[in-house]
Amino acid sequence: MSRLAGRRVLLIISGGIAAYKALELIRLLRAAECAVQCVLTRGGAEFVTALSLQALSENRVHGDLFSLTEESEMGHIQLSRAADLLVVAPASADILARMAAGLADDLAATLLLATDKRVLVAPAMNVRMWLHPATQANMASLAARGVTVVGPGVGAMACHEHGPGRLAEPAEIVAAIERLLAPGDALAGRHVIVTSGPTQEPIDPVRYLANRSSGRQGHAIAAALAELGARVSLISGPVTLADPPGVGVCHVVTAAEMLAACQAALPADAAVCCAAVADWRVAEVASQKLKKSADAAPARLTLLPNPDILASLAAPGPLRPKLVVGFAAETEHILAHAQAKRARKGCDWIVANDASAPAGIMGGAENEVHLLTAEGVESWPRLPKTEVARRLALRIAGAMGG
Ligand code: C5P
Repeated sequence: MSRLAGRRVLLIISGGIAAYKALELIRLLRAAECAVQCVLTRGGAEFVTALSLQALSENRVHGDLFSLTEESEMGHIQLSRAADLLVVAPASADILARMAAGLADDLAATLLLATDKRVLVAPAMNVRMWLHPATQANMASLAARGVTVVGPGVGAMACHEHGPGRLAEPAEIVAAIERLLAPGDALAGRHVIVTSGPTQEPIDPVRYLANRSSGRQGHAIAAALAELGARVSLISGPVTLADPPGVGVCHVVTAAEMLAACQAALPADAAVCCAAVADWRVAEVASQKLKKSADAAPARLTLLPNPDILASLAAPGPLRPKLVVGFAAETEHILAHAQAKRARKGCDWIVANDASAPAGIMGGAENEVHLLTAEGVESWPRLPKTEVARRLALRIAGAMGG
């Protein structure tokens, strides 16, 4: 059975000569037993007919936002919610701009704004339109919101120019759809421990030491590993995020609790230490709230170093996971410091990022990382944290032989 069997794609066809390739895309999806609902924009309808789309998709084609029958029968919101994935192919410069701006001026744009599902876009346009800073800025903001992009390819174009702008081939688009809808089971049977979030180290019953970690990157990694079929033990410090679906979560507060939970979760095939563990804890936690007084000096806190969870999981021994991954947030000499950290902690890989970056890695939605392994350094572009997580999970699956 096809990996896409029973999945539902809402395919938006916008204007452009490449719209004819949408017909082949629908044919391939239907051959893979994937249900396809088409939405044809006004521009798209200049290049392909609703009749062709309807015949191939075996479904009615939608095009009108203000159709009374559709609003009473199902409504435009329903249309986007009923799909597993929204695909825009071809995606014109115009629809990408409207998506980036959050417009809802036709059915396609409205669906894209109303959806809670993942969105894949396959841009196709003239090379200068694609390279224009406006289009590039639109693509950057769509990527930051988690929209996945396939293509465009490089080659000769209908407008007799040469360069990037060609719609990705239909088979390539199907492969991208498969990656999103059926990522596979590359980590089935594997157990991975992930630490995430900050730790809080109590001072007294009402105060604590902490940091700005949101847990977004660690939680996204746990979710991405689970999507690849891993059994994931997420050991999370205090965060405001929901537990990721399909992940076993252990909530802890202090570094000592996080270490104990990690040790209790062993054995594991891999460990990803993403938590921003507090470096110190207060030597003596006051049992009553420390009081300030006008005539006494402020309380002095004596700090003790916390256990290093990453180093202890990476230490040689029978329970050491095969792959131990650490994170390094650096503000200068990123690669040199991260390389030194990899050796010092005894871990296999370090994911290093620039903590001084203006986008605010800590708490932000994006990350720009370098992956340091025994083989060398790979620098990834600035990506949404979910995409960093997906790539890292795929690399971990590769290292596990999956
Ligand atoms: O030493 P530093 O805090 O820069 O190291 C960062 C890496 O070490 C991260 O992977 C973090 O999760 C891990 N770490 C840890 N326990 C600590 C301190 C850091 O697991 N006490």
